[in-house]
Amino acid sequence: MSIRFTWYGHAAIGLEINGQRLLVDPFFTGNPAASITADQVQADFILITHGHYDHIGDAVDIARRTGATVISTFEIAHWMEKQGIKQTHGQNIGGKHAYPFGDVKLTLALHGSMLPDGSNGGNPVGFLITATDGRKIYLSGDTALFSDMRLIGDKGLDLAAIPIGDNYTMGPDDALEAAKLLRPHHLVPIHFNTWELIAQDANAWAERVQRETKIEVHVLKPGESFVLA
Ligand code: NI
Ligand code: MN
Repeated sequence: MSIRFTWYGHAAIGLEINGQRLLVDPFFTGNPAASITADQVQADFILITHGHYDHIGDAVDIARRTGATVISTFEIAHWMEKQGIKQTHGQNIGGKHAYPFGDVKLTLALHGSMLPDGSNGGNPVGFLITATDGRKIYLSGDTALFSDMRLIGDKGLDLAAIPIGDNYTMGPDDALEAAKLLRPHHLVPIHFNTWELIAQDANAWAERVQRETKIEVHVLKPGESFVLA
């Protein structure tokens, strides 16, 4: 079973697992880094880490058009229902649920989660996905460095995606520490270069990670993908 990871720019990620199409934090409209538009993307599941507009993005429109099930916090699932999206599944931190592509557990994230209309999005989260073949993927969401990343790393991660942009999330120095705690086989930096405020030299960061760890870092351009065979 192969797993395809696509970075659409900013924190928007596509994952193809066991024939299921997952779309994470689908921010396309108004995203200067987006590689596609919201009406071009397909999804069976939409995963949302927190309520900020650069993560909720086009989730309502895409869920309405595709019929994809929205997986997020209880609060964001409830908010999506109020926008007319009936197919939602709310979880909360520490809880996991089985889907056709594997299990999703919500993990701690140190950040905020107010929704675009000022509603309370609950706590921000990351996702620990255990695919049906047992491989583990960790999407941290927007977060600061936290030492419990070591516990997540202890699960044995095949793939992780973490922010490196600084200002709103971890910057390169803390993301290097995060990489050492998480110890994934493959690591993708996200949430940088969308705007000048979060501009980073991802290649220089990748060289630091690869000098100090055995991790394979994939610095993607928006629209690029790679496959875990
Ligand atoms: Ni945010
Ligand atoms: Mn963000």
